[in-house]
Amino acid sequence: MVRRAVNELSPGMVLAEDVLTPGGRFLMPRGTVLDAGHLKSLLAWNLAVVQVAGETSPCPDAPAAAGQPASSEGRPDVLEAAEAAVRERFACCALAESPCDVLFRLALDREVRRRLAEGVPVGEGGEDRSWRTVESVPGHLSMDALLRDEPQLVSPPEVYLRISEVLGNPASTVEDAAESIKHDPSLAAKLLRLVNSSYYARTMRAMRGRFPAKVDSLSRAVTVVGARQLATLALGVSVLPLFQDIPQNWVNMRLFWEHSVGCAAAAQALAEATGLVNPETAFVAGLLHDIGRIIAFKQAPAHMAAAMRRAEAEGCPLHLAEREVLGFDHAALGGHLLQKWQFPANLEKMVRYHHDLEEPFIVDEPAVIHLADVVATAMGWGGSGNRRIPAADPAAWAALGLTGEALAGLVPDMEERLAATMRSFFPDHQGPP
Ligand SMILES: [Fe+2]
Ligand SMILES: [Fe+2]
Repeated sequence: MVRRAVNELSPGMVLAEDVLTPGGRFLMPRGTVLDAGHLKSLLAWNLAVVQVAGETSPCPDAPAAAGQPASSEGRPDVLEAAEAAVRERFACCALAESPCDVLFRLALDREVRRRLAEGVPVGEGGEDRSWRTVESVPGHLSMDALLRDEPQLVSPPEVYLRISEVLGNPASTVEDAAESIKHDPSLAAKLLRLVNSSYYARTMRAMRGRFPAKVDSLSRAVTVVGARQLATLALGVSVLPLFQDIPQNWVNMRLFWEHSVGCAAAAQALAEATGLVNPETAFVAGLLHDIGRIIAFKQAPAHMAAAMRRAEAEGCPLHLAEREVLGFDHAALGGHLLQKWQFPANLEKMVRYHHDLEEPFIVDEPAVIHLADVVATAMGWGGSGNRRIPAADPAAWAALGLTGEALAGLVPDMEERLAATMRSFFPDHQGPP
């Protein structure tokens, strides 16, 4: 292990210790094989030195230089096909502007890697396309009618009410939070797996063993993440079983939840980096941000088929086509449900406005979910039926106050959180949470 000045690092070197920002926030894990994006990120955070392994690792996938996709040398055909596919997905984005310029570079890098490794284009696996042949289309719908017709959605799960009491009481204690959850063993088990996922394990490691490696009780989980934060996580996890199935198999549910968890992981990382919102609240808002789309797929399949056809024909993101066909988009429908269930107002607003930053008086909190959704869609983490990446709203980007390099530096951390959370929700990697 040797100490190296950051400006002397080169692609292929391996980090020998976790890297933290000057403020103490986790940036990159030990074992990261550095590529050009990592090097830019280390420089962007003004870090002077890091510990690297004594020998450089042969890393055939490391990009030769910033801005160039990985390992495409000798395969111009792969690069050309990958670039055409990624440009098509970014058709609604201003590629010369941040953060789309950075996300395009990262997405192209991943598309090239994916094509070289698997021959499967990002975002094109596992989707049923039979919606193309469904005939419709009826007129606009009512959000209230859609929610009324689904008995499961008329009222929230019972455990939710107990958790809400904890969230509604500023003086709630460790015991209150644990008590609200422990009567639902399935929920408690999911929460413990979540808290034990690598994000918290890594946080504890960065805190030099202040907490034990394994969180084995709800009381300990409350100590690690805080009573209100655990209750917020429980709130999100407790409603997930209501959104398990879409009868029409037009969106692969596994991909849908991977997109939702990817958005949650990205929102949590963005919240930590910017301080705009509590990270656990951002995580839950990311997890639930597209639940309106599940309701719409389930309750109004013909309308959604028409919206998907329209989005494809017009080359626009699906939420814009939803507004034309249904009369509202999935974000408004999800927000409507959370309002009806009296979810905390900030959670409801983050879901409701994640595609509509012009509406809320203060954009900071919805901006986190908006950007997290753009990142998750751009990186091809799962899919929610939306093939085109929504344009990043300049107001949201301004609210976050990040540089493109800082965002690129967060992506490996987001991917690690995504993988860990998927493992905690899907231990067998089979069904929805
Ligand atoms: Fe959305
Ligand atoms: Fe989304």
